[in-house]
Amino acid sequence: MHQILHTRRFLLGNTYKTCCSIFARMMQAVCVDVPGGPENLVLRTVPKPQLKDGEVLIKVHATALNRADLLQRRGLYPPPPGESDIIGLEVAGTVDTLGPGVSRGWRPSDRVMALLCGGGYAEYVAVPEELLMPVPPNLTLCQAAAIPEAWLTAFQLLVFIAQVKEGEVVLAHAGASGVGTAAVQLVHLFGAVPVVTAGSPEKLKMAESLGAAAGFNYKEESFAQGVHHFTGGKGANVILDCIGGCNWEQNVCSLATDGRWVLYGTMGGRAVEGDLLGKLLSKRGHLLSSLLRSRSLQYKADLVKAFSRRVLPYFSDQTASLRPVIDSTFHLENIADAHRRMETNRNMGKIVINVIPQNQETQ
Ligand SMILES: NC(=O)c1ccc[n+]([C@@H]2O[C@H](COP(=O)([O-])OP(=O)(O)OC[C@H]3O[C@@H](n4cnc5c(N)ncnc54)[C@H](OP(=O)(O)O)[C@@H]3O)[C@@H](O)[C@H]2O)c1
Repeated sequence: MHQILHTRRFLLGNTYKTCCSIFARMMQAVCVDVPGGPENLVLRTVPKPQLKDGEVLIKVHATALNRADLLQRRGLYPPPPGESDIIGLEVAGTVDTLGPGVSRGWRPSDRVMALLCGGGYAEYVAVPEELLMPVPPNLTLCQAAAIPEAWLTAFQLLVFIAQVKEGEVVLAHAGASGVGTAAVQLVHLFGAVPVVTAGSPEKLKMAESLGAAAGFNYKEESFAQGVHHFTGGKGANVILDCIGGCNWEQNVCSLATDGRWVLYGTMGGRAVEGDLLGKLLSKRGHLLSSLLRSRSLQYKADLVKAFSRRVLPYFSDQTASLRPVIDSTFHLENIADAHRRMETNRNMGKIVINVIPQNQETQ
């Protein structure tokens, strides 16, 4: 009898240990089994990511939504080959585990934020160490999650692509979007003059509170006329354009001679009909375009390094001159509601997703 009890305890103990070790290798993540609407986002238990050479495992505290997430959910924006098929382009959290060959001084429990190719809607994500940034000390992890994708995109467009200079006028469309709210603040920081378009008075007011010198409600007025008046007929030196098709004529009209028009999204359509090339040529305009997600690791690492050096300190200087703009925060289990909010263009700034289960929140 004693022997039987002992064997039973031994077997139960081992089963318990096996279960614990399986659970330790699993995590909660948002999956999309069938592309479609927000209701197709399902929270499931999946294996934690395996660390490759030079990668760090982050315990995710928060992630944030990007417009691209809506496309990926609908099956229209697949991840680059070899990358996680879990949605999510940015996170903030703490360092959990260092992979082989990690050499840049990151330590377990460091507060970090990171740019991702995917995998952000999960409790853990593996990231090449070059894409990690320290969280500015005065920011919470939820605030930090709103920084990587929007701010690195805006910085890349302004500095790497448009090479914006002091005193130049920069027209940024969707001025209250995640990228727009970052762009307005960066243009201001670089001593240039931000002007924006947006679809409501509240959004224009928000952009103006961040430093926009003028704003035009594209639903009610011609922004080309607005830019013309604001610049005394000279036009904008740089246009950050995430709208595309439906705006092309007003954009080329708003462009200064030798101006740079940077296309980085096509929310207003892809097709163009008319004399675009003739009008662009008459202004000696530069039409540039850029995507961040498909860039090489080296390019992104250079971007993260330049951003960390030139911009990150301004999130925590005495005047806190830069701030991530947060529209709203949702828990991971309410991810579908967060997608619905973005899909209906209601957000001003970033929608943050708190990944920590509600009963374990500390900040
Ligand atoms: N190329 C890249 O590497 C890259 C990286 C990140 C983001 N992006 C692009 O940047 C854009 C902004 O992204 P986000 O995540 O910051 O967006 P977001 O916060 O969701 O804001 C998007 C806003 O754009 C405006 N909008 C939507 N459709 C429009 C239309 N047809 N015409 C005019 N305005 C429209 C809406 O504001 P209103 O109410 O003002 O109309 C909407 O709230 C997206 O196009 C995204 O794909 C590109």
